[in-house]
Amino acid sequence: MTDTATVLIVDDEKATREGLRQALEDEFDCYVAASAAEALEYLKNDPIDVMLTDLRLKEDDGMKLLDEALKLPKPPVCIMMTAYGSVDTAVEAMRRGAYHFVTKPLNLDEVDLLIKRALRSRTLEVENKELRRQVERKFSIEGILGQSEIMKPVLETVQQVAPTRATVLIEGESGTGKELVAHALHNLSGRPKQKMVVVHCAALSPQILESELFGHEKGAFTGAQDRRIGRFELADGGTLFLDEIGEIDASVQVKLLRALGEHTIERVGGNKPVKIDVRVIAATNKDLAKLVEEGKFREDLYWRLRVVTIHMPPLRERKSDIAVLADHFLKDLADTNGKPPKPLDEEVMPALMNYDWPGNVRELRTVIEHGVVMSTTPRVMLRHLPSYLSQSGVPGLRVPVMQPARGTDAPAPASAPPMHAPGFDLNIERMEKLFIREALERTNHNRTEAAALLGLSRRTMQRKLKEMDLVRKKKKPAAENTTDA
Ligand SMILES: Nc1ncnc2c1ncn2[C@@H]1O[C@H](COP(=O)(O)OP(=O)(O)OP(=O)(O)O)[C@@H](O)[C@H]1O
Ligand SMILES: [Mg+2]
Repeated sequence: MTDTATVLIVDDEKATREGLRQALEDEFDCYVAASAAEALEYLKNDPIDVMLTDLRLKEDDGMKLLDEALKLPKPPVCIMMTAYGSVDTAVEAMRRGAYHFVTKPLNLDEVDLLIKRALRSRTLEVENKELRRQVERKFSIEGILGQSEIMKPVLETVQQVAPTRATVLIEGESGTGKELVAHALHNLSGRPKQKMVVVHCAALSPQILESELFGHEKGAFTGAQDRRIGRFELADGGTLFLDEIGEIDASVQVKLLRALGEHTIERVGGNKPVKIDVRVIAATNKDLAKLVEEGKFREDLYWRLRVVTIHMPPLRERKSDIAVLADHFLKDLADTNGKPPKPLDEEVMPALMNYDWPGNVRELRTVIEHGVVMSTTPRVMLRHLPSYLSQSGVPGLRVPVMQPARGTDAPAPASAPPMHAPGFDLNIERMEKLFIREALERTNHNRTEAAALLGLSRRTMQRKLKEMDLVRKKKKPAAENTTDA
């Protein structure tokens, strides 16, 4: 805190007001008010950091003043003063949002300490809010979240190429956010918002795709009863998003190549070229280069499309984004499902971090939605997520498997038994201990790193270590090194 904090003292007894002012004015900028009305006057004119108010003011109710004060755009932290014996009203005040209370007769040191603590909590709260805003502003454009090192250049490229007319090819596994990026490119392009036309190429047969894209004249083929305007023409002046471009047939590839090269199209069955101004964005979850090699995709079209390529990294390569994404989906999905927003319990993150996410961000979204819908507790617990997640172990963890008893003459199995083999240790506490021990071993007993590996806060890690008696003791001879459970 650089500026002196402001404290507003509200009490209808002059002696208390003045006594407090004298005790506090060396450290804080003090204002005094004898009534709720007077206090509100101060609060409305100047932001006050801390309000110290009597719960029972002569004519007005201290509780009402509290409610009013907390409704202000920049509410003060409120500390209530109450006569000894009416603590339950004070508790009610805290339920309504007061920071704390002190009982009369006042202990001035206690008041002083409480004010300082209140100020610290307020600074933290403001800082957290600001930090969150900064993070969201910096690492999200057009709803694409991600603060990992590997996502930063992706977001930069999006920003850089969006306002150009360059054709963009977006590559990436299913669920990595290709369509989201296509929308961002369009929204930041300066082209009219409503003019983005999407075509899911894989869903359509070659004939239908061709007439969808380029339109057709009346009577162009059996069934073509009317003239039809294609998506290229519909997108004129805007953006055409060709999703799953790797799936299109050779005959359509030729026409597409011409449209991209000459900025003109021809309707099926027509012979007049139509000029178009369309920005094309294409996406694929196939390896187009490989399709070219296999002769399934025209090389010239490939080069036309990939003027700029954006590669969407799979989620398993940017696990540090999981927390931000999960947090976003928690709020978003609670909202759409009409549920109160809840945080994830701390047992959940390790499971999310240890999973490989073959379905990428879309799968994470589905998993969180499962949790939001299934949770009946104040937090979303691991048991509320799809069961395959609670079974995901630390990759490479040497899980001890109790071998089912078998006769000595039975041949040993060729491969390790599956995780859910009979006899697999399902005791959570024992497993937790094992995971923690493994993490410590991998990080050379660096607790901060081990905590990060497990997705735990350092404080939780400390607590667990204590609880499990895993705090490294001074080396005792021999026995210490043997395995214990
Ligand atoms: N970085 C991100 N930030 C926020 N939401 C994201 C992000 N990436 C993906 N999503 C969300 O994940 C879901 C899947 O994304 P999208 O549909 O863009 O994937 P895709 O790559 O087009 O998948 P597919 O290849 O299966 O079509 C959407 O709900 C999208 O909003
Ligand atoms: Mg898609």
